[in-house]
Amino acid sequence: MPKINEINLKKWKEYEDILTDSLWIISERDKSGAHKGDYHGNFIPQIPNQLMRRFTKKGDVILDTFLGSGTTLIECRKLGRSGIGIELLPEIAKIAEQRLNQESFFDPKGTFQEIIIADSVKQETKKQVTEILKNHNQNKLQLIIIHPPYHDIIKFSDRAEDLSNAKTTQEFLELFGKVVSNYIDLLENKHHLAVIIGDKYSKSEWVPLGFFVMDKVLNSAKVKLKSIIVKNMVNNRAKRNLENLWRYRALAGGYYIFRHEYILLFQKI
Ligand SMILES: C[S@@+](CC[C@H](N)C(=O)[O-])C[C@H]1O[C@@H](n2cnc3c(N)ncnc32)[C@H](O)[C@@H]1O
Repeated sequence: MPKINEINLKKWKEYEDILTDSLWIISERDKSGAHKGDYHGNFIPQIPNQLMRRFTKKGDVILDTFLGSGTTLIECRKLGRSGIGIELLPEIAKIAEQRLNQESFFDPKGTFQEIIIADSVKQETKKQVTEILKNHNQNKLQLIIIHPPYHDIIKFSDRAEDLSNAKTTQEFLELFGKVVSNYIDLLENKHHLAVIIGDKYSKSEWVPLGFFVMDKVLNSAKVKLKSIIVKNMVNNRAKRNLENLWRYRALAGGYYIFRHEYILLFQKI
């Protein structure tokens, strides 16, 4: 079977920084280079970094269907991978582009990073992805990263197409499923799809969004589940100030404070 990464197994002891446990405790966000870490709802750069080093090679193409502030494309540029990022909101895509331009190329030869301002759910957006691949003499993706809104926990905009405005959990899951179905046939066989998501509370009830979306992926695509990774959530300063209030509420209401999110890893079969 052709290798999908650049890990030399003869020197496996040298890759100490590549995570292999299903529990990721990462205490510090990587703020190096163009990463700012200030976009509400962004993920830490270590997530795409770990996924790319484990499941892609230099020159491979990664698709991020919810680009936000551009974390994935910045990591692509750092690691010599190509990347396509889709973001619904033009003002956020602009921030992503500005940050991307601040990051220097690790290996400029032949790699590209492009941003599409569009709705990931739409079929036409898939055509745009295919077109970009074609322009670069490619026809497949080697990794798909999906980091959607965690339903309505953070409202990203007032736009109807914004997944954070889905009226119900069911509607959110349907739109999420459409995103998976839209791009999965562009993923090369034996390659990976990663979904990063957290659960939520609604009306004092735990809503297991992570488990719901896992089920959706398994039902919308020919993939196998490779890992459920649980990662700690790093609070920003504003959230740390609220900690006592949360703890009081948790004690009073009989619930637990979210400290984790999931990285659900699937392999195309
Ligand atoms: C959880 S954030 C992604 C953050 C990103 N990983 C980062 O590090 O900045 C989700 C993003 O999806 C965008 N979004 C919501 N609905 C969308 C849709 N239908 N198509 C494309 N992007 C969408 C939001 O504007 C938001 O920027």
